Amino acid sequence: MKDGYSREIDYLRISVIDRCNLRCIYCMPEEGISNLLPHDEILTYEEILKIVEIAVDLGIRKVRITGGEPLLRKDIVTFIEKLAKLEGLKDIGMTTNGVLLKKFARQLREGGLKRVNVSLDSINPDKFKTITRLGSLNDVLEGIEEAKKVGLDPVKINMVVMRGINDDEIETFALWSREVDYQIRFIEFMPVGQNSWSRELFISKNEIKERIEKKIGKLIPVNMKKSGPAEYFMLEKSEGIIGFISPMTSHICVRCNRLRLTADGKLRPCLFSDTEIDLKRIMRGGASDRQIKDAIVDTINLKPQGMLRESKPLRPMSTIGG
Ligand code: 5AD
Ligand code: SF4
Repeated sequence: MKDGYSREIDYLRISVIDRCNLRCIYCMPEEGISNLLPHDEILTYEEILKIVEIAVDLGIRKVRITGGEPLLRKDIVTFIEKLAKLEGLKDIGMTTNGVLLKKFARQLREGGLKRVNVSLDSINPDKFKTITRLGSLNDVLEGIEEAKKVGLDPVKINMVVMRGINDDEIETFALWSREVDYQIRFIEFMPVGQNSWSRELFISKNEIKERIEKKIGKLIPVNMKKSGPAEYFMLEKSEGIIGFISPMTSHICVRCNRLRLTADGKLRPCLFSDTEIDLKRIMRGGASDRQIKDAIVDTINLKPQGMLRESKPLRPMSTIGG
């Protein structure tokens, strides 16, 4: 279905859990999120499946499972299997920090997951630890390899670039795309929740791009059918491609095709607006399918034309789903 600005809304991102086994500096404070959701506030899989079924009726064709860390939620594979059986849903992806991916990749693929985005901000073990505070780089690298091996496609690597922290690895990541068939994506750091964003840490897409072109070579534009907010390029003689997601410096809102469902069942029309429709309350209050459908339509109609960049969403990213 189209929103009020003629954008076709066909994509739903679903956060299935607010917990995470990492504490990335761009996402969470060191001590983690203080007000974690009690378990009964988190949507059950049945509730999520019901929402997706109705959303598919309204034209949603693609979902992405996020967190927190989705692989921490019990029975995630069974959930993916059920999701994959919903008629009309064409594409299921997941965003994960990769720590548990080695263990789950094959089961997920067999269960119907098609693609995976892995957050990876450094391939230097010490720096990886500084950024994630808890993780071990090797687990993630093994997870990425396994994902490729079992046929999850594409495998996307998301790097949030922060000046003075990991910007010295921009070229290393870019060069990676020469060797393997991954999509290496550079993401502009956004202020969200209680994260550590500051102007000093921020680096724009243009600067990242210039650095790559100066040090390595020309970035040749690649036209992708459904690229969403990302812009894609290739270095010469490459297996993989390079993407940029620039929520801070580009007008990505004109192409926005998505809704977000939070772990506690709030449907959000926009990442950068704290407007939410409480689907969980509506459903647990005994709403009919028709009423749930109306609430989803209302949310689509609430999508703003563009976001206010100075407006920092209050919720931590780990409950919205990156
Ligand atoms: N800025 C940019 N991207 C972010 N993500 C999480 N927090 C931020 C932020 N503040 C994205 C990252 C991560 C995914 C889970 O969400 O890409 O890989
Ligand atoms: Fe966890 Fe992802 Fe947040 Fe890192 S960015 S702390 S992996 S939810």
